[in-house]
Amino acid sequence: MREYLIAGNWKMNLGRTESVYLARELADKIPANDAVETVLIPTFVHLDAVHQAIASSALKLGAQDVYYEKKGAFTGEISPAMLKEVGVQFVLVGHSERRHILGETDALLNQKTRAAIAEGLSVVLCVGETLPERQSHQTNEVVARQLAGGLAKVDSDMVQLRRLVIAYEPVWAIGTGLTATPQQAQAVHSFIRQRLTDLYGTSLARTIRIQYGGSVRKANAADLLAEADIDGLLVGGASLAADEFADIVRAAEQVKGKK
Ligand code: 13P
Repeated sequence: MREYLIAGNWKMNLGRTESVYLARELADKIPANDAVETVLIPTFVHLDAVHQAIASSALKLGAQDVYYEKKGAFTGEISPAMLKEVGVQFVLVGHSERRHILGETDALLNQKTRAAIAEGLSVVLCVGETLPERQSHQTNEVVARQLAGGLAKVDSDMVQLRRLVIAYEPVWAIGTGLTATPQQAQAVHSFIRQRLTDLYGTSLARTIRIQYGGSVRKANAADLLAEADIDGLLVGGASLAADEFADIVRAAEQVKGKK
């Protein structure tokens, strides 16, 4: 079955010393286990230092963004190969803060997704509706559009080897303390699984992990993960505290043991 994926997206929150300290603490607190894959996602400039800090641990490294070109005159951008060089295995693509603050479009995210997968990285494609979209019953429509746009020309071969993860992050739940209820999240996750089934067939769609993100805490982690189609968590604020994040990983191990 699907191994859980618990990822801590540190966003633009920590300096270098804090990042290395947190990474070392987490490396000590989170032992390897078969049920949960754990990923730390610091800012670009701290990837190298965090990679060294977690080198002899079970933790993996992710980046918050990626560009789709291999090299050239793209000031400020970073290629998939450059990320791999510093030990990155996962990249977030289309986080709502990049869609809404930086104006990234589905067409751009599709190019990033394809380039990163082609380089052998695992892509965490983020989707999710805003509050007005939910209130006007457009959640499924928005998520379907983001999936279709982000996954255009991403074929079954590219999705093999766990190269694709979807993160459902309702924008209204990010950093607000408002979490989707497990039932609300499961309804959208099940809809996403259906779209993945339409695209890739049942057996491949079953292997694709769908994370939930948005005000995840240790207090709500187990209830969310107990749902059938919730295969992991993308954690923002609560990933900045070592004990809280390690407890979320522990909760995931315990739920997996019962599921
Ligand atoms: P919070 O957990 O702070 O709500 O952030 C969620 C998120 O955006 C993770 O990518």
